[in-house]
Amino acid sequence: MRPISAPFPAARFRRLRRMAALRDLAQENRLSTADLIWPVFLRDGENVEEAIPSMPGVARLSLDRVVRAAEEAVQLGIPALCLFPYTDPAVKTDDCAEAWNPENLTNRAVRAIKAAVPELVVMTDIALDPYNAQGHDGFFVNGEVLNDETVEALVKMALAQAEAGADILGPSDMMDGRIGALRAALESAGHRHVAILSYAAKYASAFYGPFRDAVGASGVLKGDKLTYQMHPGNSDEALRLVARDLAEGADMVMIKPGMPYLDICRRVKDAFGVPTYAYQVSGEYAMIRGAADRGWIDGEKAMLESLLAFRRAGCDGVLSYFAPQVARLLGPPS
Ligand code: PBG
Repeated sequence: MRPISAPFPAARFRRLRRMAALRDLAQENRLSTADLIWPVFLRDGENVEEAIPSMPGVARLSLDRVVRAAEEAVQLGIPALCLFPYTDPAVKTDDCAEAWNPENLTNRAVRAIKAAVPELVVMTDIALDPYNAQGHDGFFVNGEVLNDETVEALVKMALAQAEAGADILGPSDMMDGRIGALRAALESAGHRHVAILSYAAKYASAFYGPFRDAVGASGVLKGDKLTYQMHPGNSDEALRLVARDLAEGADMVMIKPGMPYLDICRRVKDAFGVPTYAYQVSGEYAMIRGAADRGWIDGEKAMLESLLAFRRAGCDGVLSYFAPQVARLLGPPS
């Protein structure tokens, strides 16, 4: 589309900005509570809400509390929750076996939430890092993150989550070939309805720092994730990854982090026209919240503006730790 404009003064853009009602009529993109996926952190125990210092306002929740959060999500009109476990260091091993334990924290939470509010979409994360003594998303052997062996483990993890009742599986591991392997395993196990939201274009980013605190992975990570996550300088590679994951059976795709990668969101939406999501990650949340807490920015406005930007960039939805706060402001979707 080539924008057409008359010369001044025939064209005066301020005519449509003159009053709120005209601005409303001319507004191209809108943010709705229906666009939000709320990521929450789980921990063991009862009646516990444990603050995460690098994510003010976000806490690790015990199962009873997460069920309450799920009920709140339904009341607020938030369509989906995404679960991330904080795993006791004693349970982290090199073989990551807790990841596919049907009784692990995530799987217990999925069952508890689906029993209480079956209408809420529950999304789970597929990657080994919360369970890995080495802190990586895959098996770490002799200084290398193994691909194919990790994919086999991810399949076991996915089946346990699907069995527990997860609606959307979110592989965030960036191993090659995992989408096809997961889809095939889900189909043959009878989980035909379970959707895959692929973290297709996930960058090796400094913005994940507070998340790693939240899941207890910061202290244990050996090195960095550059051999499997994308280099921040790449853009064409994101399109190839999305194309590959769609061809392997992904139902939805994600770009992550969000705000520094809005150009990728737009390219992906334009190129493929598929359900496209972004993750406004922990570091993005911490920056806005941290500045707001110091009075350096208007936190509410910055939060809404940052999320509207994802819609403008072509995203159908966004994972954001601001989800409940935004939903309270915007109200339930009409
Ligand atoms: C790991 C995973 C990460 C996030 C989601 N899943 C961190 C990482 O890749 O190190 C980050 C989310 C956030 O920062 O909010 N599988």
